[in-house]
Amino acid sequence: MGIRKRLVGSYFVVISLTVLILEIFLIVSVRYYYFHNMERILMNQAELSASFFQQYFTDEDLEEQSDRLLKGFGYHSDAQVQIIHPSGRLLRDSAGFEPGMTMNQYADVQSAISGEPGTWRGKDPFTHEAVLSVSYPLEAHHLTVGAVRFVTSLNGTIATVNQIMILLIGVGLAVVAIVTTLGIFLSATITRSIRDLKQVADRMTEGDFRIHVQKRYRDELGSLGDTLNKMAVRIVKSEQLKNDFISSVSHELRTPLTSIKGWVITMKSNGSVDTDLFHEGLEIIESESDRLSRMVDELLDFSKLDSGRITLHFAPVNLTDLLNHIGRQLAPRALRQGVTLDMQADGGLPVIQADENRLKQVLINLIDNSLKFTDASGRITVHARTEPKQVVISVTDTGSGISKDQLANVLQKFYKGDPHAPGSGLGLAISDQIVKLHHGQLSITSSADSGTIVRICLPIGGE
Ligand SMILES: Nc1ncnc2c1ncn2[C@@H]1O[C@H](COP(=O)(O)OP(=O)(O)OP(=O)(O)O)[C@@H](O)[C@H]1O
Ligand SMILES: [Mg+2]
Repeated sequence: MGIRKRLVGSYFVVISLTVLILEIFLIVSVRYYYFHNMERILMNQAELSASFFQQYFTDEDLEEQSDRLLKGFGYHSDAQVQIIHPSGRLLRDSAGFEPGMTMNQYADVQSAISGEPGTWRGKDPFTHEAVLSVSYPLEAHHLTVGAVRFVTSLNGTIATVNQIMILLIGVGLAVVAIVTTLGIFLSATITRSIRDLKQVADRMTEGDFRIHVQKRYRDELGSLGDTLNKMAVRIVKSEQLKNDFISSVSHELRTPLTSIKGWVITMKSNGSVDTDLFHEGLEIIESESDRLSRMVDELLDFSKLDSGRITLHFAPVNLTDLLNHIGRQLAPRALRQGVTLDMQADGGLPVIQADENRLKQVLINLIDNSLKFTDASGRITVHARTEPKQVVISVTDTGSGISKDQLANVLQKFYKGDPHAPGSGLGLAISDQIVKLHHGQLSITSSADSGTIVRICLPIGGE
């Protein structure tokens, strides 16, 4: 799981770095605070002692008064107090060390003897414990006559600092652990969605489109799942349409073929004696072949339109002429069916830019539908009129009408109200495409029993 590792890894790195930087800062601050504090307390005591000496003992001999001084200096302090001769020799020690020891090796003592307060941190040579010492010069008449030294063990402080350090490190590790665990859970929510999506996509590549993604969260992955679901629904639908189409087309092709075959057989056996029968047969074979090639043309046409491989040849079209022409062409069929076909073109229709043949195809498709679905003594009105910026051609019939749920589908390719009715179900889909290529709009108003109105709006002023 690449993403999961990457997510958890980056959580871990970010939080570890943050905690590490914070810890270092805190530990350094705590150490500084404790040691500095300690040093300040000792320094205050030393300073106090030195000023006490300066006030009351300037005229006395340091060595002689060292006992009294030691008592005075050590009165308010738990620290070990030492009094040191300017030569570096130890005069008195509150811890009971032998006087006479040289103290010159300590940096704080050196500094105090030369007149400046000094501090030192290190190991006590006798007890081997960590100590802090502060030395302060004792002055009389502007001369350094010795030094006072306060020494304290750092063991307690170090232990406290260590405890705090352990606590801080513990808390830091806990934070890293908690955040990493949270990261694992958080990334699991993401990777789980991705895994679901992948599983479903895998099933889909195997051809199973009935499967659905379970939406876990309303996030980008959730909407990706929705998209996948929608895609599957569409694929299933188009698969269904394709199957329906194949069965309906094979059916459609078989009808004329059966009729042709039947007539050929009849003509073979009887044609030589009955010339009328022979001619009737030939005529039927001719019209059935026409029907077949019309169907094949329609299919080819549609596949071209659908894949956008068709280009329109725009030229000025006179709509009045076009309507009259179509009216004349379809009049015999309307007469045969007992339907009144009325072509009305308003005066002053503009000449529009369009592909005349395609436009004719659309109108014939629409009138063909009306003729198919209108009973004898019905009426079909084709009316062209001008509106601001567009020409509207409407085909109105008094036929069976289209029910509401069918209306939503009639523009789809291969859709037929009655799957067993003749036709490929492509007529309206092709017409809609052609009108769209003219930058126009095709709309249908209908309800069962009240007849149908199909409107084509075409923009005036060209392509
Ligand atoms: N004027 C109409 N009156 C009633 N129903 C209609 C009308 N026009 C279309 N329909 C319905 O819409 C469906 C689709 O029409 P379309 O023209 O796309 O296909 P078709 O006429 O069935 O087949 P084709 O046009 O390819 O021969 C029809 O099957 C029919 O149910
Ligand atoms: Mg049709």
